[in-house]
Amino acid sequence: MSEARKLKINILRYDPHDSEDRPHMETFEITEAPGMTLYIVLNDIRKHLDNSLKFDFVCRAGICGSCSMLVNGRPTLACSTLTAKLDTEITLAPLPTFELIGDLSIYTGNWMRGLNERLETWIHTEEKKDYDRLEDRMEPELADEIYEVDRCIECGCCVAGCGTMQMNDDFVGAVGLNKIARYQLDPRDDRDDEDYYELVGNEDGVFGCMTLLGCEDVCPKDLPLQSKIAYLRRKMVQIGK
Ligand code: SF4
Ligand code: F3S
Ligand code: FES
Repeated sequence: MSEARKLKINILRYDPHDSEDRPHMETFEITEAPGMTLYIVLNDIRKHLDNSLKFDFVCRAGICGSCSMLVNGRPTLACSTLTAKLDTEITLAPLPTFELIGDLSIYTGNWMRGLNERLETWIHTEEKKDYDRLEDRMEPELADEIYEVDRCIECGCCVAGCGTMQMNDDFVGAVGLNKIARYQLDPRDDRDDEDYYELVGNEDGVFGCMTLLGCEDVCPKDLPLQSKIAYLRRKMVQIGK
């Protein structure tokens, strides 16, 4: 049996609530175990080496979206990243764009809530309380199509991986455009093309996207972001004519 690898974990540490603190790297060494994920690595560090390390996890199964971080500069989910797929030196940093709580812990919640309020990401029916319509039958193929884009876990990886996002704070990002694509597909939503145009037919919406493709590249749920954005752009161009 080959000897277990020694991992060198570099972590960008910073407490924005401590005026004395400055962003700095700290390195921890641990021994790799079979099936080890970055979730296990960070727990090991906190348990045995430094209990002040901040990071977020809830489901540990790639479902809640809370453990997103930069792993060797790439946005991804730490709980589904196996150390065996990485070199022995691993660098971790918090996702940019979002509010930093400390070290690797970020607050995506307020950003995502703002986005959802801005894009009104809920089913709009003429009758405000027409709950029966929410149970309307739909073709299984359409339900599948909606389900496919509805798998977004709001992890923020596509936001962190998008160059446009770094230049325009108001850009809704692939996560926002994907949400609009989802509601546009839904026959229970009474909004028409003009309503969607109001929301994303502008430079902060679909016309701000420069097709940099980073979003689809890093999305841990493999959402078809590119085709959804391209479809939405074609649609918005037609409406805007
Ligand atoms: Fe995360 Fe993908 Fe949703 Fe973006 S679209 S927030 S990368 S799951
Ligand atoms: Fe950004 Fe994706 Fe468009 S990376 S620029 S939202 S294609
Ligand atoms: Fe939930 Fe990683 S802990 S996605």
